Amino acid sequence: MLKLHLGEMTLEHFMEHYWQQKPVVFRRGFANFTDLISPDELAGLACEAEVESRLIYQKDGQWQAESGPFESYAHLGEQDWTLVVQAVDHWSADVAKLVEPFSFLPKWRLDDVMISYATPGGGVGPHIDLYDVFICQGSGRRRWRVGDRGEHRQFPAHAALLHTEPFDAMIDVEMLAGDILYIPPGFPHEGVTLEHSMSFSVGFRSKSASDLLSGLADYVIDQELGTALISDPKRSIHTHQGQIDARDFAMIKAHLLTIMQDDQLLADFSGRYFSRTKCALDLQAVEEPYDAAELLDNLQRHPLTRTGGLRCFYLDASIEQGICYVNGERFEFGPACQSAVLALCDHDGLDFDLLQTGLQDAGFLDALTQWVNEGYWYF
Ligand code: SIN
Ligand code: CO
Repeated sequence: MLKLHLGEMTLEHFMEHYWQQKPVVFRRGFANFTDLISPDELAGLACEAEVESRLIYQKDGQWQAESGPFESYAHLGEQDWTLVVQAVDHWSADVAKLVEPFSFLPKWRLDDVMISYATPGGGVGPHIDLYDVFICQGSGRRRWRVGDRGEHRQFPAHAALLHTEPFDAMIDVEMLAGDILYIPPGFPHEGVTLEHSMSFSVGFRSKSASDLLSGLADYVIDQELGTALISDPKRSIHTHQGQIDARDFAMIKAHLLTIMQDDQLLADFSGRYFSRTKCALDLQAVEEPYDAAELLDNLQRHPLTRTGGLRCFYLDASIEQGICYVNGERFEFGPACQSAVLALCDHDGLDFDLLQTGLQDAGFLDALTQWVNEGYWYF
């Protein structure tokens, strides 16, 4: 397993003083780091329709951005271009392992592992992200500049490329294999490649209230909740017909708050919402489906691995009932399965011992069998 080295810094110090607050470089954050996927394999992935990818380069001084899938890279030449591939952890088990050293952060905050391959002079240009990112340098050298948070004008350098104006650097480093640059949201940055280079970015996303409300609206509609109408029997005589008076406004607000203050509803929404993936999963259904007895037998001898990018969560409020959320769906296995459900959600690798309480339960065993048959976990 890759081990994160923060030099003299403790993780506690990082979380207290840097996480979401300021950028920092960890020299040789991963000792002996080598590319987790080759540039050729990455280029191959970007030829697949399910994989999100972009090519970024400049032509006659103008920034260009093209979305994959790509058929060829032959026209691009030897320099000044970058290939960026999103959610590579979904497609490569080796890349998915890059998430493990960041297990001090919860998975609901994780976005994905984005990988870029860049030729000398290549880069995506100066920009600001809304995400926290740990950029791990693979092969090749890359110069990174990071400016301070502040009022930075942003503009579209291309319809699909939001750039920011030149900025003064508070960090200006040449990164080598294994070096890690952490950048919180809002700090302008730019990486310019000095030689053929691979960058592995572990991104952490957050959500705005508008994202959450839009997800919540979909949830209440799907679940047919919140359908009761505002009702106002024994209303007093209204004198200004054009007015929504303070009492009526309070009634409207209270009606909305019945949803917003329902912890059970919000917990169920959160479990489903955050366990959904943004990018496609590489689900490989097994050719000869297992039955429960065969699965149990296999599990006694082999561990299971979660497919990269699959998201599984439980909440404190409902874990006692053995409730969990897998890929946007809710499952309730009952109190006896609690520790198996914890293991399922907390670990990428599972074995017989970790799942033992659940394996004695027919409902849990059936669900696990179906998940393995559908490729959510694999031996
Ligand atoms: C890149 O790896 O080229 C871009 C990463 C970033 O700036 O977020
Ligand atoms: Co960025």
